[in-house]
Amino acid sequence: MKYSLLAMVLMLSSGTAGAMSPGEYVARAADCTACHTAPGGGALAGGLRFPTPIGDIYSTNITPDKHQGIGSYTFAEFDRAMRQGIARDGHHLYPAMPYTAYAKMSDKDMQALYDYLMHEVPASDRPDRDSDIVWPLSMRWPLGIWNTLFHEDRRYQPDTQQSEEWNRGAYLVQGAGHCGSCHTPRGWAMQEQALDQSSSTYLSGAELDGWYAPSLRGMPQKDVVALLKHGRSERAAVSGPMAEVVTHSTQYLSDADLNSIGTYLRSLPPVTAPATDSAVAASTAAGAKTYAMYCSTCHGSEGKGSANVIPALDGNATLTADNPLTALRVVLDGAKTPVTEQDMALAMPGYGWTLNDGQIKDLMNYLRNSWGNQAPAVSTKQVAEARKLKE
Ligand code: HEC
Ligand code: HEC
Ligand code: HEC
Repeated sequence: MKYSLLAMVLMLSSGTAGAMSPGEYVARAADCTACHTAPGGGALAGGLRFPTPIGDIYSTNITPDKHQGIGSYTFAEFDRAMRQGIARDGHHLYPAMPYTAYAKMSDKDMQALYDYLMHEVPASDRPDRDSDIVWPLSMRWPLGIWNTLFHEDRRYQPDTQQSEEWNRGAYLVQGAGHCGSCHTPRGWAMQEQALDQSSSTYLSGAELDGWYAPSLRGMPQKDVVALLKHGRSERAAVSGPMAEVVTHSTQYLSDADLNSIGTYLRSLPPVTAPATDSAVAASTAAGAKTYAMYCSTCHGSEGKGSANVIPALDGNATLTADNPLTALRVVLDGAKTPVTEQDMALAMPGYGWTLNDGQIKDLMNYLRNSWGNQAPAVSTKQVAEARKLKE
């Protein structure tokens, strides 16, 4: 009896990660699902909308269907699309498809990915949808010039001064994981300002679609591993777009790979914390009162939270990011941690309906500069703008 129970537990625990083919693992690490599966649409059958400043574009069907999907792509054609952003018929892809990152993937991973897409993914005959961009802006040739300026088609080059683990982490973060597409600030032509650690702007935090993806530079390895595996760590929790990254992608990575990612991110020197100003001092008393009344029951009077259940606010990267947008949205609208194969969601209630913009400003300024925290002041206007983003 005892014996068979043990066998069952072993079977259950080996059923998840063990069954994945090498190509599926790469597809998970690269999160193709995030962009090529639309809500209610077939897996990888495309149709997800991407708003751009000049109009909407749509992701394509990448199932092995010969007519609507990529079933007639040879490996060489697929490789070119993934590394250079050029489709089978020669047209340039918009860089919403993160080929600038995928170019760093190894030949072996690219081949495994191709085999997976061709042989393991069910074909769907869902037709692609044309972009809503009107002529002449819809001409794709300027994308070729964009590529010349901002894209280098080059496989990841290991840094021989660094450990194997560090290099594996750098490979995953810069390549398949395309973490920089959300966490690195963009330049005048929407290009990522840096694609690797040679610049201190790399992964230094960026605003996207009404959220703020905080700096990942110098983040403690243990926190990174827990956040990517479970959507929460002892001190923090993910909520917005990152929750989907955890659900579709990072929860499936092996512990060794997650540790490598943590090793790499920890090695990047953090950008220095900004000094505080007088607007902060003015908020402190009122903010402390609001905190004691509404928040301290869960987050604790010293902001320490409770390990793996309620994130600590002392030393919390979302709360102390230069750009307070994500923290504001969590406090206004509430948040939920992602559901993974191992974790149920934890929820935080929203306070937008009970606290006004001035109260939330004071609360934020207090929290961003209490305990060990230090961050620039938040204005009432920033609160009002974040309030408008509620979906
Ligand atoms: C961040 C969003 C995003 C991710 C992640 C992403 N793609 Fe794409 N992909 C797009 C968009 C958008 C297009 C369409 C671009 C266009 O029309 O110019 C596209 C186009 C493509 C094309 C050209 C398809 C065709 O119909 O000719 C291929 C091939 C492709 N993606 C494969 C993949 C694979 C494989 C993955 C995972 C390794 C992936 N993509 C991940 C957004 C994404
Ligand atoms: C009922 C318990 C509870 C109360 C009360 C509560 N929180 Fe939370 N809070 C949570 C949980 C659980 C999370 C994790 C959810 C998530 O971020 O996905 C969270 C997340 C957060 C985050 C984001 C942390 C991160 O790592 O991303 C901030 C900031 C925050 N809370 C601030 C506040 C403030 C300010 C108040 C008072 C106005 C408050 N909370 C009241 C439970 C609570
Ligand atoms: C689609 C955009 C997107 C991608 C891709 C992405 N992130 Fe994030 N990430 C965010 C946003 C936005 C937040 C903050 C709000 C939230 O929790 O969603 C975040 C939060 C995080 C946090 C939590 C920080 C904290 O302490 O609260 C970590 C760690 C993280 N990301 C690591 C990564 C890594 C590593 C990768 C690549 C494997 C990655 N992210 C890819 C958008 C993204």
